[in-house]
Amino acid sequence: MKIKLKEIKDFDIEIIVLKDFKDCNKKEKDLLKNSGFSAKEGEVLHMGSTLYVGSSKLKGEDLKIAFSNAIKAVSKTKYTNIKISLVNNEKELDIKNIIEGLLLGSYTFNKYKSKKEEKSLNIFIDDKNTKYKKIDLQKVINETIAICDSVNLVRDIVNTTPEDFTPLTMAQKAKEISFENALECKVFGEDYLKENGMNAMLAVGRASRHESQLIHLTYKPKNPKGKIVLVGKGLTYDCGGLSLKSGEGMVSMKCDKSGASAVLGIMNSLNAISCEYEVHGILGAVENMIGGDAYKPDDVLVAKNGKTIEVRNTDAEGRLVLADCLCYAQDEIKDIDYIFDLATLTGACIIALGEYTTGVMGHNKKLKNKIDKAAEKSGELVGFLPYNRYLPSMIKSSIADIVNSVSSKAGGAITASLFLDNFIKDENKDKWLHFDIAGAAYREKVWGYNPYGASGAGVRLILEFIKNQK
Ligand code: BES
Ligand code: ZN
Ligand code: ZN
Repeated sequence: MKIKLKEIKDFDIEIIVLKDFKDCNKKEKDLLKNSGFSAKEGEVLHMGSTLYVGSSKLKGEDLKIAFSNAIKAVSKTKYTNIKISLVNNEKELDIKNIIEGLLLGSYTFNKYKSKKEEKSLNIFIDDKNTKYKKIDLQKVINETIAICDSVNLVRDIVNTTPEDFTPLTMAQKAKEISFENALECKVFGEDYLKENGMNAMLAVGRASRHESQLIHLTYKPKNPKGKIVLVGKGLTYDCGGLSLKSGEGMVSMKCDKSGASAVLGIMNSLNAISCEYEVHGILGAVENMIGGDAYKPDDVLVAKNGKTIEVRNTDAEGRLVLADCLCYAQDEIKDIDYIFDLATLTGACIIALGEYTTGVMGHNKKLKNKIDKAAEKSGELVGFLPYNRYLPSMIKSSIADIVNSVSSKAGGAITASLFLDNFIKDENKDKWLHFDIAGAAYREKVWGYNPYGASGAGVRLILEFIKNQK
């Protein structure tokens, strides 16, 4: 669905979100009640030229979900010109959350449908009574639209099939985004990985017919306040390798590029948020396949920093790619303020936190608190998984420095994170956080304003964090 926010004189339908009937006159209240509408979340009633939508609260996530429900209901009608002016007679319209609900809730993915129903809606938001000052209003609107566009771009990328989105496609997309945003973009193939001792990443992609790509984008404002590095797992497909996934476990593994895709989405929004930090996006784009040339359980790999890794499960491939990408980042970029990696790294993270929630791990409590605040503000869900002194011994190897997979599944998200910790330099330990987005990035169902498939997890969260760095 295409949505255009613009001024319209004659509208077909007006959306009114209600929490209760407090602000309705008696006639309206009776009419709504007699029609079976009780203003509860998820309820939608179309009456004449008004679409009433129920919501438990008139702010934050509830408001986004209400407008997401509203726009889905409107898309099923013949109407195309929509007006939004009232929310329960609230004095101030929360335009940011309304736009997020509309733009994120109306996303559809039709690329593979033979009949594409591409509906276009014109929406007029009457901004006479907003909570924003006039000077801030346009900025808020533009920023929100840009961020939602990036989230939807990430959804498109992740939903695209592994045949249509290979490591090389990822590199092309990165170049396209760099060109549009005036970013620097460097792309390296397997020769570079060989020359630079990135053998862990190289091994994962060896059985694929698609060459692995290391992609480095840079956003450089004038007089940057500091440096932020974002590293993304970009497995364009993960069949598990020789430690082959089950048929069921393999379905949806096109989502394994969600970390790298989120990094692309973030890089695509930095101009829009007038980011004052230098930001580096580093993507490891690789396909994990089987074949005579596949890397094997029992292999020992030497990573870029010289650490040796005993492969015990080729399905624990993401951490191998990230290990070398994290080394590359810290070798190439000095004086880092924050280094975050985003990855659909473990099924164990979904077991630990449930679907929808990103697992955040790292050494620095203060930094985790900042992320908690950014999560609350952005609407993304995070949970923090703790390290302890006993867990690191679980990834010790008898024949190499560390193993890539532990036989015990207990705390699998944490042991994966502790594996990555081996590739973080001492000076960056407190600057690093690992985001396991396995549960939030891709669900085969609709949740709130998130569609079936890719959600674009990580984009709003990290952009909110960056915006809050003064
Ligand atoms: N890409 C998967 C993790 C995943 C699972 C992402 C479900 C999204 C949804 C990852 O590469 C993987 O297979 N991890 C293994 C690790 C294990 C072998 C130690 C897992 O989670 O089972
Ligand atoms: Zn895997
Ligand atoms: Zn994977």
